Amino acid sequence: MVSYKELGLVNTRDMFAKAIRGGYAIPAFNFNNMEQLQAIIKAAADTKSPVILQVSKGARNYANPTLLRYMAQGAVEYAKELGWEHPQIVLHLDHGDSFELCKDCVDLGFSSVMIDGSALPYEENIALSKKVADYAHLYDVTVEAELGVLAGVEDEVQAEESHYTRPEEVIDFSRRTGCDSLAISIGTSHGAYKFKPEQCTRDPRTGRLVPPPLAFDVLDAIMEQLPGFPIVLHGSSSVPQEYVDMINQFGGKLPDAVGIPEDQLRKASKSAVCKINIDSDSRLAFTAAVRKVFAEKPGEFDPRKYCGPARDLMTELYKHKIINVLGSDNKA
Ligand code: G3H
Ligand code: 13P
Ligand code: ZN
Repeated sequence: MVSYKELGLVNTRDMFAKAIRGGYAIPAFNFNNMEQLQAIIKAAADTKSPVILQVSKGARNYANPTLLRYMAQGAVEYAKELGWEHPQIVLHLDHGDSFELCKDCVDLGFSSVMIDGSALPYEENIALSKKVADYAHLYDVTVEAELGVLAGVEDEVQAEESHYTRPEEVIDFSRRTGCDSLAISIGTSHGAYKFKPEQCTRDPRTGRLVPPPLAFDVLDAIMEQLPGFPIVLHGSSSVPQEYVDMINQFGGKLPDAVGIPEDQLRKASKSAVCKINIDSDSRLAFTAAVRKVFAEKPGEFDPRKYCGPARDLMTELYKHKIINVLGSDNKA
């Protein structure tokens, strides 16, 4: 058993309470490799923003669970080295799909886990989420559960249709599961293609897709049912068009990639939405930078020469999110 407290990590409880009171949201950035982790920590330390390091089941399999844990431990020390005296860093399991996986993460030093039973029937989702919450709380690990279904890919689960969270279910669900935060569905989705072209309009000036707005009426109804309860938004990448253009310019092919406009995320951050999940934007920045180096310097074969620029671009992206979108700078 490894306690996250020994690793210098924190859980999400105080972090979320402060974020709701302060009208900002905590960034939850996924990582799979060293460069992403370095960029996240540098951006958080430079802006003094609390941060959630998210690891999916796929990331654990890719990087190795033991190595990931030591990387997170190293991240705390790196943050201190960068001059961040009391780093506020959470290590969180993203989209846990079983009790066993969540338990394994609790036992190996995670300070927060998500149990994603959103594809299950309501009562099964409650039973599984409660089982995880009961176990995690023994070790003061916080738990995110999900109600409602996002369209697109959720780790290995693919849903064709989204179902908004039903506000009339949230009180019963949060009470009976004992979860600490609730991921909801109000129109976001995972990946770089969040909306089909037929769901969007087109900006006649730029020819770019303009997505439909998020269902803020559903969010309002949820907040009315659960005043002050921490709400989480998944699938919140904005799919910056400059990265899409760079990728396409340098040999990639991402036609009509579209994300959630930043003004909508800014609005959500000011509400009880206190955790915003961003993964795809980092992947796009990484890929754009690497493609540029490969296209402009075909003779380059030192990974530091293309992963370095990728890391720089991701750092810039994370800082932008923290300062200009979520408003979490100078909160840690
Ligand atoms: O919600 C999904 C996250 O972006 C993680 O994606 O399962 O490909 O690591 P992944
Ligand atoms: P994006 O694909 O929009 O980055 O969403 C990431 C996410 O929700 C991780 O759980
Ligand atoms: Zn997600």
